Amino acid sequence: MASTWRLLLLLCFAMAAVPVLPQPTEALGFVSIDSGAAEGTTYVDPLTNITYVSDRGFVDSDAGISANISAAYVAPLLARRLFTVRSFPNGTRNCYTIREGIARGSKYLVRAWFLYGNYDGLDSQRLTFDLHLGVNLWKTVNITDPSALLPVEAITVAAADHLWVCLVNTGGGTPFVSSVDVRPLKDSMYPVVNASLSLVMFNRVNVGGAQNYIR
Ligand SMILES: *[C@@H]1O[C@H](CO)[C@@H](O)[C@H](O)[C@H]1NC(C)=O
Ligand SMILES: *[C@@H]1O[C@H](CO)[C@@H](O)[C@H](O)[C@H]1NC(C)=O
Ligand SMILES: *[C@@H]1O[C@H](CO)[C@@H](O)[C@H](O)[C@H]1NC(C)=O
Ligand SMILES: *[C@@H]1O[C@H](CO)[C@@H](O)[C@H](O)[C@H]1NC(C)=O
Ligand SMILES: *[C@@H]1O[C@H](CO)[C@@H](O)[C@H](O)[C@H]1NC(C)=O
Repeated sequence: MASTWRLLLLLCFAMAAVPVLPQPTEALGFVSIDSGAAEGTTYVDPLTNITYVSDRGFVDSDAGISANISAAYVAPLLARRLFTVRSFPNGTRNCYTIREGIARGSKYLVRAWFLYGNYDGLDSQRLTFDLHLGVNLWKTVNITDPSALLPVEAITVAAADHLWVCLVNTGGGTPFVSSVDVRPLKDSMYPVVNASLSLVMFNRVNVGGAQNYIR
């Protein structure tokens, strides 16, 4: 692993700093993937107007199994992209390759969402696996609540004409993912981020909000 590559923990991304606004025609590099959705699925999320697509075509053709989360975890306001997951029982490392609109040297927000929801019927109380961005460790995912919605984010510069989001089995259970998003950022945003330095989200705080919500 390149010693020059360093992942900084960012104490707090201000909510306003990364607006995820509805886009009439989504910009280049604005990719929203519903992992585990049936091949060919495309739909607009009614709460955000963001268009989601199935993850077939982003993972190697035979990699992973798609599954529905258990009905017990489907709440009325739960976003549709969280209803299904793709899990990777085989292989140590399984990757999503995102090419659409990705330009080498440009800056992106990359986000993966995890909601276990007992998709495998095993009622796991503890799951841990690693997430890599390209060849670099991004975050150790540690799921201890089957109903918790966990977002993992990074601000990074694309090292090639694609981004790789990889799930790595570290012996703590079968890796899975609910959804993957890529958002293009202006080069002037997060000036500390460059080709050898990415930021990883530590926490996001809704300052002054009446309640916590994650969409
Ligand atoms: C989504 O698009 C519809 C139709 O254009 C519009 O009425 C609605 O306000 C939009 N919702 C959001 C959250 O932007
Ligand atoms: C995993 O490997 C087993 C044994 O080789 C095979 O039968 C199964 O189809 C594979 N499953 C996936 C999802 O690749
Ligand atoms: C998930 O549920 C849908 C119906 O809501 C069903 O058509 C589909 O086959 C299920 N997928 C799996 C992998 O069980
Ligand atoms: C996962 O979280 C649990 C509970 O917070 C903690 O005890 C455990 O050490 C964590 N595991 C990893 C691999 O971070
Ligand atoms: C990225 O920024 C760090 C810290 O300012 C610096 O040490 C490093 O050389 C930069 N890398 C590139 C490729 O510019």
